[in-house]
Amino acid sequence: MTRETWATRAGFILAAAGSAVGLGNIWRFPWVTAENGGSAFLVVYLGIVLLVGVPGLLGEFVVGRRGKKSPVGALRDLSGSRLWGLWGVFYVVTAIALISFYSIVGGWILRYFGESALGLVGARPAYFAAPGQYFGGVAAGLDALAFHLLFLALTALVVFGGVRRGIELGTKVMMPAVLVLLVGLAVWAGARPGAAEAYAFYLRFDLSTVRANFFDVLGPAAGQALFTLSLGAGTMITYASYIDEDRSLPFDGTVIAVLNTLVGVLAGLVVFPLLFSLGVDPAQTAPGPGALFVGLAGAFAQLPAGAVVATAFFGVVVLAALSSSISMLEIPVSFLVDEYGLTRRRAVAVVTGAVVVTGGICAINPTIRGTAVFGFVAGPLVDTLLTAGLAAVLVFVGWVMGRDAVSEFRSGAGDLAGGLATPWLLGAGVALPVFLFFTLLTNFGV
Ligand code: PFF
Ligand code: NA
Repeated sequence: MTRETWATRAGFILAAAGSAVGLGNIWRFPWVTAENGGSAFLVVYLGIVLLVGVPGLLGEFVVGRRGKKSPVGALRDLSGSRLWGLWGVFYVVTAIALISFYSIVGGWILRYFGESALGLVGARPAYFAAPGQYFGGVAAGLDALAFHLLFLALTALVVFGGVRRGIELGTKVMMPAVLVLLVGLAVWAGARPGAAEAYAFYLRFDLSTVRANFFDVLGPAAGQALFTLSLGAGTMITYASYIDEDRSLPFDGTVIAVLNTLVGVLAGLVVFPLLFSLGVDPAQTAPGPGALFVGLAGAFAQLPAGAVVATAFFGVVVLAALSSSISMLEIPVSFLVDEYGLTRRRAVAVVTGAVVVTGGICAINPTIRGTAVFGFVAGPLVDTLLTAGLAAVLVFVGWVMGRDAVSEFRSGAGDLAGGLATPWLLGAGVALPVFLFFTLLTNFGV
């Protein structure tokens, strides 16, 4: 059976951007920006995306397009070593960890979306909880399990359809919808009273905060850059393995990084005017679940047309989350298809079955020695796996592929971008792994 490929160039870009654009952009990026110096932080963040994110993306692209297999097969075949193949299994494990917690959050959002669409926003104050009541009790338990399964089923359905008729078609609809809805919401939010104040809070150019915290924000900013660009999990290796043309990888990578940043900035232009107009202090709704599920949901409940706006907003979040979760599921699926010759459908069934269990454990949220499994997987575990995962890919590119990586980078890139191949290899193969190694150490509190 011949391996599937993307039908169009836009298909690959939208699928990869769909993977990148997700919960990381909407529930985290705006708050991190506002807290760390506004537009001054944005400049630092863009620098990190350019110096760490884009070269990292290109590392995964080069391995994927050259290897034409799942991370396991690509690393093994390109190196001729079983050990690298074994390391590839690490990405399969990372992907399962990611989707286990991500599909639970996806489930919460699906529920918020559904209830908003039914006009129930505000009708159940205990559900759309007041600040302080974290998650309003929807975080864990049988409800969370049920919605986790629903979100997972939607994810599986898209991946079931295959590369072209599932992922490509799905993200070609989802991504434009996300952009159009977000722009619409931002315009609406901009007309709310207090919008100017909100912009001043969000995007003030506060260099002193950046300066005072420069080294403090560097690590988290780098961590955020990996998560937000879907790096270190082998997603981008897998998606690039379905490219069959010599198009410019540096160009595609830049477009994906720009789209990803744009969605984060737009999300802030929606949420802050909304919160300000209702006198909610955004500082009280620190980044993360509380902001989205408590602060915003509470705000929607107070608005006259709240149900409509809430439906549009949570609709955006559902689509963004779904286009990311399908990219997570695709990693183990492509592994089973490439390595064990399973049909795609059977592979989807096997992996989904596994995530029903691993995600279920997180959804019911038991604690092991006082730490909630969900929190551990969503936080330190994933951070560590992604950082180590990307560092290993870059070492592979720099030290195993070497010249092959340069020629793969150049192929289709044109003279201008192609000229960056050697500096890229030096940076990606040497400087970045060292940098990532140090952020890994700081994760462990060294
Ligand atoms: N980039 C996604 C987000 O910002 O929400 C999360 C993600 C997707 C991380 C896929 C890793 C991955 F492989
Ligand atoms: Na993202």
